[in-house]
Amino acid sequence: MATDTQKLDKLIEKYAAKKGILIPLLQDIQNLEGYLSRESMKYVAEKMKMREAEIYGVATFYSMFRLKPLAKHIIRVCKGTACHVSGANNISTAIRNVLDLTDGEDQSADGLFTFIEVACLGCCSLAPVIMIDDKTYGKLTSEKVTQIVKSYY
Ligand code: FES
Repeated sequence: MATDTQKLDKLIEKYAAKKGILIPLLQDIQNLEGYLSRESMKYVAEKMKMREAEIYGVATFYSMFRLKPLAKHIIRVCKGTACHVSGANNISTAIRNVLDLTDGEDQSADGLFTFIEVACLGCCSLAPVIMIDDKTYGKLTSEKVTQIVKSYY
């Protein structure tokens, strides 16, 4: 996606002359673009007279920032307390196996899935829970979730 510098300018203006604005600014840019592109970080660095490495350092330090565009489908695995005690780790492992993700990878090689672990999805009685895009799946087992994810191929 090409960087829309007019929209970036508006965001930069919004935070101009405020201290400690880099994180909220980067969050806004990520909300706008879905991730933090190299181009956008470079643009912000130029506009704010900061070193690009400084911005990149912040973007890579915080796990909330994404440096790659989201895939076609977003899988959110709940790691909240109710889901955790109901086997969320096994659900994560099963999904990661289907997607063939190695440690630290959060995107399938085919670009179809982004894998994200999140806090409570707000339907604890269905634990363990995942969401794929806007659809919620609950009371999962490793077998069930494997079938569900495979159905998206
Ligand atoms: S803890 Fe998973 S939905 Fe609440």
